[in-house]
Amino acid sequence: MGGKGKLQKWAEMKTFNNVTEPTTDEVFRKDHPLKGKWRTEIFKNDNPIVLELGCGKGEYSVGMGEQYPNKNFIGVDIKGNRIWRGAKTAFENNMTNVHFLRTQIDHIASFFAEGEVDEIWITFPDPQPKDRLERKRLTSPMFIDRYATFLKPEGIIHLKTDHEGFFQYTLDEVERCNFKLLESTFSLYNEMAENLDPKTQEILNIKTFYEKLFSAKGHSIHYCRFQLK
Ligand SMILES: C[S@@+](CC[C@H](N)C(=O)[O-])C[C@H]1O[C@@H](n2cnc3c(N)ncnc32)[C@H](O)[C@@H]1O
Repeated sequence: MGGKGKLQKWAEMKTFNNVTEPTTDEVFRKDHPLKGKWRTEIFKNDNPIVLELGCGKGEYSVGMGEQYPNKNFIGVDIKGNRIWRGAKTAFENNMTNVHFLRTQIDHIASFFAEGEVDEIWITFPDPQPKDRLERKRLTSPMFIDRYATFLKPEGIIHLKTDHEGFFQYTLDEVERCNFKLLESTFSLYNEMAENLDPKTQEILNIKTFYEKLFSAKGHSIHYCRFQLK
């Protein structure tokens, strides 16, 4: 028997209380009403906020949400049928610290106020290898400039990818812009695993849908984290 179709998933998602789906009109060149209000309106606490950009099915948002009940997680992606998976799990498990935002990340600065976000995870982003599509890479200057408008000073950006070209591009950008590289490996599970504290190991061991796909093909997993200031 086949799984649920897109339309069914979208309809079911409307019954969850953990997905925000703005129209383009609400965010195109203007601020969304939730900007600066995620803690008071959505999470009802003062805990740190962590974004997962291009979250797909939201494995990191849900997995970290379980590990860190005292942090808030927001998975962001444009694809509703993928977000549905993570939102359904979080909803059925009454996870009040996990939320999903269905939007183009291009509009992300419309949603968050200065200093509102503590950390960002970018998990297996589309690599956009063609030079002419550089601006679409989630670590291009255009995107980093957007993140800088709401990421706390010393806030950390994590990247996990199997794509060597994208990874190297990001490391080059970090160097070019004088960002602070905190950790970097081309082979996460071979080079670093044993040196990591258990909590970090648990986080880095969360496997997303795409990570499982690429690992099964024998791809090495690259990971880095850096600060903008
Ligand atoms: C390769 S998938 C990875 C999904 C998930 N993080 C994983 O590891 O399984 C990339 C995801 O990023 C999303 N994405 C890429 N560019 C985006 C953008 N500009 N705005 C919103 N979502 C975007 C896609 O919809 C897709 O779900």
